[in-house]
Amino acid sequence: MANPGGSFSFDIVVFGATGDLSLRKLLPALFLRDAAGQLEPDARILGAARQPLPQAEFRALAAQALDRHLPAGAFDKDVWARFEARLEYLALDVEQPEDYAKLAKWLRLDCGQVTVYYLAVAPRFFGPICRQLGAAGLNLPCARVVLEKPIGKDSASAKAINDAVGAVFPEEQVFRIDHYLGKETVQNLMALRFANSLFEPIWHRGVIDHVQMTVAENIGVEKRGGYYDQSGALRDMVQNHLLQLLCLVAMEPPVAFEADAVRDEKLKVLQALHRIGERDVAIKTVRGQYSAGAVNGGAVPGYAEEVERPETSTETFVVVKAEIENWRWAGVPFYLRTGKRLPQRRSEIVIQFRPVPHLIFPGASRDVVANRLVIRLQPDEGISLHMMAKVPGPGGLRLRQAPLNLSFAETFQDRQPDAYERLLMDVVRGNPMLFMRRDEVEAAWHWVEPILAGWDAQGDAPKHYTAGSWGPSAAIGLIERDGRTWHEDMR
Ligand code: BG6
Repeated sequence: MANPGGSFSFDIVVFGATGDLSLRKLLPALFLRDAAGQLEPDARILGAARQPLPQAEFRALAAQALDRHLPAGAFDKDVWARFEARLEYLALDVEQPEDYAKLAKWLRLDCGQVTVYYLAVAPRFFGPICRQLGAAGLNLPCARVVLEKPIGKDSASAKAINDAVGAVFPEEQVFRIDHYLGKETVQNLMALRFANSLFEPIWHRGVIDHVQMTVAENIGVEKRGGYYDQSGALRDMVQNHLLQLLCLVAMEPPVAFEADAVRDEKLKVLQALHRIGERDVAIKTVRGQYSAGAVNGGAVPGYAEEVERPETSTETFVVVKAEIENWRWAGVPFYLRTGKRLPQRRSEIVIQFRPVPHLIFPGASRDVVANRLVIRLQPDEGISLHMMAKVPGPGGLRLRQAPLNLSFAETFQDRQPDAYERLLMDVVRGNPMLFMRRDEVEAAWHWVEPILAGWDAQGDAPKHYTAGSWGPSAAIGLIERDGRTWHEDMR
């Protein structure tokens, strides 16, 4: 299946091939891996979607998508000639058994290679597609099925999806994508914690005061209003991406760098999260919705106008104060924050250390700020450790905070590959480390659900914030009530 040089032979079937995810992320990622020499000459890509489309038109659509979504300078005519020849198209109605018979004709059923079914479709189709694949005998031993988030909209629907998929494919053949886990800097969290002896001894409640995690976006809901309005920021970003980040920061050292060892530790964190229910939802969460404003100098409409539903109460911004009830983290809040139409696209994890226990510098007490480790996930990936230093020169001892900065772009000159490049190749390799196991997804829903129920019971609408601001003022109030502030650049 894989040659020793690290290139792979596979058939990948992309369900929903003409959709946004396929065109924006999957085809460009496969192209870039082809350019890197990781696709064997006989690797093939079959786009499947409902609409009838001549082969040539699908290839033209793919060319257009590459033109739009590849990084500047990444297109290469020779690679395209090779890549184009791999692309085929099948009009497929997910409910029609005859269409799966057509799919069976295209597939190589002898399992001389890996077969990937990538379900880039709405989650309500996950069960039906897997059922049909099973009925057509296409649940081959060499097959892997990839599920895009969201896996359901609550724990019952997630369980129903997992049951339906699990009835056809055993867990080791199921790959649930959370693309944040494929980001280089997110993987770097594990390197930072477990390849350095420096951090682990101070990684606990005795030294750390609190943790902030922000995933800020400046975009709105774009063309995904239909999905987003049913979902909201808590389901769309917190249930998966932010909780996964929290797990990587908070988990115990796994016994080995192996999929289940890592996932076992992440699961324990999810299970230790304090449930936020109806009683404390008002003090431990804030939800907001953007109204018209300006982002990067351009006027933008409010969310309700964008989704054309004046009465919508879907949140586009959320802050949650999460607490982990275990020995390492008791009393150390994790403030999770995410939102759309904020001033910039910026994701950061801030580890805030405790202040020094006693200050020996007379007159400098106001200048001394507790240490902070800032892990920048995007853009401008890197790590800075904010420390106190003496300002040079005579005139008494003056102290100032100064950052020790590691920029990944400067240190490692290589291009940062997109998360999907890594994750697609991991599916082909059969490495599930960066994918969510069934129990993780369900545990994450168990924590999110009471918050959703609390909001429902409260019955009040999300607080408005102007597009281009850092969210409703209540988000600042929530952290300031605890005597803390959001990290400087993002207030
Ligand atoms: C997706 C969400 O999972 O992640 C989107 O559904 C969001 O709403 C996106 O925009 C953010 O991903 P990234 O990689 O741009 O930070």
